[in-house]
Amino acid sequence: MRISLITKLTIGTSLILLVFMVFFAYINIATFKTMLMEAAISDADKLSETIIKTTHYEMLEDNRQRAYQMIQEVGTLQGVDHIRMINKSGHITFSTEKGEIGRYLDKTEAGCNMCHTAGEPKVQASTMSRSRVYFDKQGKQVVGMAKAIYNEESCYLASCHFHPPKQRILGVLDTIVSLESMQTLISYYRNRIIVLTIFLLLSISFTIIFFTHRLVNRPVKKLLTQTTRITRGDFDVLVNNTSRDEMGELSDAFNQMTASLKSARMELEEWGKNLEAKVAERTSEIKQMQTQLIRSEKLVSLGRLVAGITHEINNPLTGILMFANLIHSNPKLDLSLKNDTDVIINEAKRCAKIVKGLLDFSRESIPQKKPASLSQVMEGTLALIGRQSSFLNIDIVRDYQPDLPLIPIDEDQIEQVFINMLLNASQSMPEGGTITITTYTDKEEYACLKITDTGIGIAEENMEKIFDPFFTTKSDKGTGLGLSVSYGIIERHGGKIEVQSKMNEGTTFVIKLPLDPTDRENPATSSPAV
Ligand SMILES: Nc1ncnc2c1ncn2[C@@H]1O[C@H](COP(=O)(O)OP(=O)(O)OP(=O)(O)O)[C@@H](O)[C@H]1O
Ligand SMILES: [Mg+2]
Repeated sequence: MRISLITKLTIGTSLILLVFMVFFAYINIATFKTMLMEAAISDADKLSETIIKTTHYEMLEDNRQRAYQMIQEVGTLQGVDHIRMINKSGHITFSTEKGEIGRYLDKTEAGCNMCHTAGEPKVQASTMSRSRVYFDKQGKQVVGMAKAIYNEESCYLASCHFHPPKQRILGVLDTIVSLESMQTLISYYRNRIIVLTIFLLLSISFTIIFFTHRLVNRPVKKLLTQTTRITRGDFDVLVNNTSRDEMGELSDAFNQMTASLKSARMELEEWGKNLEAKVAERTSEIKQMQTQLIRSEKLVSLGRLVAGITHEINNPLTGILMFANLIHSNPKLDLSLKNDTDVIINEAKRCAKIVKGLLDFSRESIPQKKPASLSQVMEGTLALIGRQSSFLNIDIVRDYQPDLPLIPIDEDQIEQVFINMLLNASQSMPEGGTITITTYTDKEEYACLKITDTGIGIAEENMEKIFDPFFTTKSDKGTGLGLSVSYGIIERHGGKIEVQSKMNEGTTFVIKLPLDPTDRENPATSSPAV
């Protein structure tokens, strides 16, 4: 069962208060009662004393009737129950209650104790010990005060008297005072104390409830709501508590904790995102490396095969071309055969071009590197081929990084790569277009050259094949060796070629060459053997 903090605090404090207040009230009432009782006894004692003193002369003159009359009148005073005179033998000689006169005191303990303690008369007993509180026949609480009437000199010397001088006590004046008014006062006082206690208890309880609710419950509820929101992942709402106490400090600490949690969560999310991006980057790098490895292995074995064949074909082909040229230029040659020899020469030249391409592809030519700028090499290439007819309708846009660092490269080989790239670009735009050339540095790792054309683009299914030797989409015009040769050259430089293309929009080739190639080159695996 859930009991709220307020209920617990209120019940606990109220119980403690109740115990203390009841105890306090009890002590208070008891003290008040004792005080009133002492006052009543003292009053009764004084009354007895007054009666004895005022009736003294009447007694000396043996004017008993007059003395009794006086006592009778005092007996009518408010609060006085009755007054009686008792002689030594317990004989009631006078009482304001007529019925008692002439009777003897009963020999009960209370009756004896009135004047004697353990058989001895209470001659010099204190006021308190001479008093007795009891309930009379009507059930009313009364206090009785027994006062000894001493045998004074004037008494036993009086002519009318017969009291012998030896007799010390002549009798007892017993004044019985009603405690009714005292009881009324006490019950009035008790009621007031009870009302006051209840009022105080309620006031204190309500005060506790009010302050606990305001100072503890409300802030705790706010904190609780905030905690629930945090568990749901909402870190934006803060606890607003300006009080300068522990709750305020707790709220501040809580807000700080929320802020730390928020930043930690954001960091974690950021980290997660970065991690995802890094994993994706790494995965694509590994994929690229795998493709490169497969391609390199393919090129190495193909290079060996091609080297053998081209070596064998090159010599007879040179002979064919040479003798075809001789026949073609022989004046004895029938003119009708001139066209045929032209075909032989052109086809032989085509074969020679293929063989040259194959030789380029298979040759293990170690790059002769010296520091050069990619932008400058590109400018040299453009000067070489830019005026060809295929570039007539093409705009060349240059976007070179001015402070592109020099990198160690074999200028001739890189130029060959650029020629291949530019020719491919121009061939993809037979109707003209734009070639944009950009140079830049990438992650302080590579010097990059990007060639973007606005040509026909490369079909998705061909993207994997374009670097393969003899892959071409240019029917009889292409050998399909341009990119594979370029690939080999860039690989031998420790760099890489990346390609992006969209059909009918254009193609972008990025050539990346390391700024510091020492730890990237591995000619043993990258160059095809002869
Ligand atoms: N910029 C480009 N735009 C569109 N397709 C291209 C581009 N560059 C290369 N290709 C595609 O890649 C193929 C292979 O190119 P590669 O340079 O290796 O051979 P080729 O150009 O066909 O022949 P060669 O280079 O011997 O004249 C091309 O046939 C073409 O389909
Ligand atoms: Mg080409």
